[in-house]
Amino acid sequence: MKKFMALITSQKQDGTFTNKVCQKSIDDLPLNDLLVKVQYSSLNYKDALSASGAKGITKEYPHTPGIDVAGIIEESSNDHFSVGEKVIVTGFDLGMNTSGGFAEYVRVPSKWAIKCPNSLSTKESMMIGTAGLTAGLCIAEIEKHKPLNDLKIIVSGATGGVGSIATKLLSLLGSEVIAITGKKDKDDFLYDLGCSNIIQREDFINSTRLPLNKGNYDAAIDVAGGDILSCIIASMNYNGIITACGNVASPKFNTTVFPFILRSNRLIGIDSATCSLKIRKIIWNNFSNIWKLSNLEKMCKTVDLNNLINEIDKILSGQLTGRVIIKT
Ligand SMILES: NC(=O)c1ccc[n+]([C@@H]2O[C@H](COP(=O)([O-])OP(=O)(O)OC[C@H]3O[C@@H](n4cnc5c(N)ncnc54)[C@H](OP(=O)(O)O)[C@@H]3O)[C@@H](O)[C@H]2O)c1
Repeated sequence: MKKFMALITSQKQDGTFTNKVCQKSIDDLPLNDLLVKVQYSSLNYKDALSASGAKGITKEYPHTPGIDVAGIIEESSNDHFSVGEKVIVTGFDLGMNTSGGFAEYVRVPSKWAIKCPNSLSTKESMMIGTAGLTAGLCIAEIEKHKPLNDLKIIVSGATGGVGSIATKLLSLLGSEVIAITGKKDKDDFLYDLGCSNIIQREDFINSTRLPLNKGNYDAAIDVAGGDILSCIIASMNYNGIITACGNVASPKFNTTVFPFILRSNRLIGIDSATCSLKIRKIIWNNFSNIWKLSNLEKMCKTVDLNNLINEIDKILSGQLTGRVIIKT
């Protein structure tokens, strides 16, 4: 029986959770139509929630987290996918209640998989990962309403996964990016991504009058929720587009109808986990050509399964900068 290595999160008798790299058997994987040899996975905030037993994420432990996978098909019972093909699987139930990508193998339904574009390596696709897909979905929503060139766009959590890819991609596409960060020593990193201005998180919150401040920005990408989202909504120009995708600060925020009925602002929710394959293909194809990001290596750290546990702790405490990918 074929064995492979995987990170396993287990609940201890005292109720706390622990992570260890252990051997698993292929027969332990769920019965789905694609067996994928994982080449790379990536670390996202949701993985850290699953790996720490956060409520409402993973129901049953022991469990292998990892919502992102890029690898090679080793077995397929679906005519559309052949053995040896490169695939990307992100979101759906992968790594939530289905054994995930922090492992050498996953077995997934083919309806979760897309073919990895030829001009994107599996490594590049995971440097982008769910964080990049989410940034891409936010940017595509903004672009539906306004051309990106010369737009003034504010991005929260700018040194994090979603924020750093959003900052880099928006700069490439000609937008002026204002980065909100809680980190005092990451200016070089953020300017290198292409942002034109940096605002410290506390300064942004302390200098914003709710529910309506002076209008300063044409669009926003928010990963934080809470006070940051309240202040972003208050600071939009007329016809502003705010995309909300995360809640690292809080799921709650404070506003009134005024930013919407006096300034015609729009608040748009983004969900990368269950968005359609059609939309995913568009976003991944963009990343393989018109959105091709150079020098991704500079903002990514590569670890193996054994070194991943430290990075999980860092992302949970908001201390990670850029992206972490896992080579299996
Ligand atoms: N809707 C979706 O489809 C989707 C997909 C991916 C992620 N998400 C969500 O988006 C959020 C970010 O995910 P990620 O993978 O980018 O995580 P990440 O890499 O940890 O980035 C989050 C960043 O937010 C900032 N931050 C941390 N604590 C904060 C706080 N209390 N208040 C304000 N900002 C704070 C930090 O950046 P600075 O130090 O630079 O401020 C941190 O690096 C998470 O809530 C995640 O669940 C949603």
